[in-house]
Amino acid sequence: MEQKETIFTTISRLAQEYNAINLGQGFPNFDPDPRMVNILKELADQKVHQYAPMKGNPKLISRILQLTDHFYQRKLTPENVLITAGATQAIFTAITALVNNGDEVIMFDPAYDCYETPILLQGGVPVRINLTFPQYRIDWEMVEAKLSTKTKMIIVNNPHNPSGATFTESDLDQLENILERYPKLIVLSDEVYEYISFQPHLSCHNREILRKRSVIVSSFGKTLHITGWKIGYMIAEKQLLDQITQVHQYNVFSVNSLCQEAISKFIEIDEVEALSSFFKDKKQLFLSRIQNSKFKILPSGGTYFQLLDYSNISDESDGEFALKLIKEYGLASIPVSGFYKDKSDHKVLRFCFGKDDESLIKASEILCQI
Ligand SMILES: Cc1ncc(COP(=O)(O)O)c(C=O)c1O
Repeated sequence: MEQKETIFTTISRLAQEYNAINLGQGFPNFDPDPRMVNILKELADQKVHQYAPMKGNPKLISRILQLTDHFYQRKLTPENVLITAGATQAIFTAITALVNNGDEVIMFDPAYDCYETPILLQGGVPVRINLTFPQYRIDWEMVEAKLSTKTKMIIVNNPHNPSGATFTESDLDQLENILERYPKLIVLSDEVYEYISFQPHLSCHNREILRKRSVIVSSFGKTLHITGWKIGYMIAEKQLLDQITQVHQYNVFSVNSLCQEAISKFIEIDEVEALSSFFKDKKQLFLSRIQNSKFKILPSGGTYFQLLDYSNISDESDGEFALKLIKEYGLASIPVSGFYKDKSDHKVLRFCFGKDDESLIKASEILCQI
C-alpha cells in the first residue's frame, strides 16, 4: 500500500509552520457546550472507567433511538444500533465485515479518504466514479454502466465532504431502483453531516427499501463539536448489523465508556435541531464577506465546507495555489484534487467555516485581497 504524506497532513503542517488561519482542517476551533464538558468532569469521579457493553452504552443507544424516531420517523430497537469509535471505525468495520475478495465497491470521487483502504485490505475492488462538476452530483447512468453481479456495495456520502452537495429525492429513487434489481447489494451511507444540512436532509433512513439494505453511519464528533472524542454509530437491520458486530467485537470490542455516558446525559433533540441554524449563520457570515472577492462561490446544501473556485485568479494547480495562500497570505485550505484518485483539478479549494467568527472574518478579509 502507498505510504506517503497526504495533502491533509502537508497542509496542516504548513499551516502551523506559517502560522496561517486554518480553514483547511475539517473540525471546529471552538469549544463544545460547557455543560457537556462539566458532565464529563463530574463523571470522572464516578464508576464509569471500565469497559462499556460491546454494542454501546444502553442509555446512549436509547438516545439514538429517540433521535432516529424524531428526525426520520424510524422506529428501531437497540439491536439496530452499534456504537463505534467514530464514523471512521464504523466505516472500516462495515466494509471489513461485508466486502470479500473480488467484490466490487462503487464509490464516488471526490471522496473522503477512509473508504478505499478497507476495501483494498479485503481484496475488494474500488470502482470509482467522478461526480459531475461543478454540481458534484452522482451520474446515475455511469453507475448503471459500472454495476454488475460483482458489485457488493455502493458507498454514498450525503451531505458530501468536500463539496457540501446533498441528495435529491431522485437520488434516493435511483438507489432504491438499483437495490431492487441487485438483491445482494448493500448501501453504505456516510451521513456524518446529517444535522448540518440547510434544507431537510434526505436520508437513507427515509425510504423503506433503503432502510432494509443500508448501513447508515453517524458521528457525534460532527453533531456535538467533539471530533476528538471519537464516538460515532451505525444503524442497520439486525441481520446486517450482527455480521458487522462480529468484526467490531475483535477490532475494537467496546468504545470509550466515559464519553458515551457523558453524551447520553447531555444530548437533547433541541440541541441537535439547532445545529443547522448555528452553521447557517457561520456560512452566511463567511459568504457575505467574500461575495465581492474574485473567488467563485460554488453552491452547497450541507456540511461546514465551502468550495471556492479560483479559476478567475490563477492558472496554477490547486495544490500550488493552496500552498501560495498559506505561504504568501497566511490562509490554509484544502485543494480538492486531493480527494480524487485521478487528481482531477477543477481549480477549486475547500474551506471549512466551522470556525470561530474571528477566524472567518480574518479569512474573508484575506480572500478579498487576492
Ligand atoms: C465524510 C466523512 N465521513 C467520516 C468522517 C469521520 O468521522 P469521525 O471523526 O466520527 O471518525 C469524516 C470526518 O471528517 C467525514 O468528513
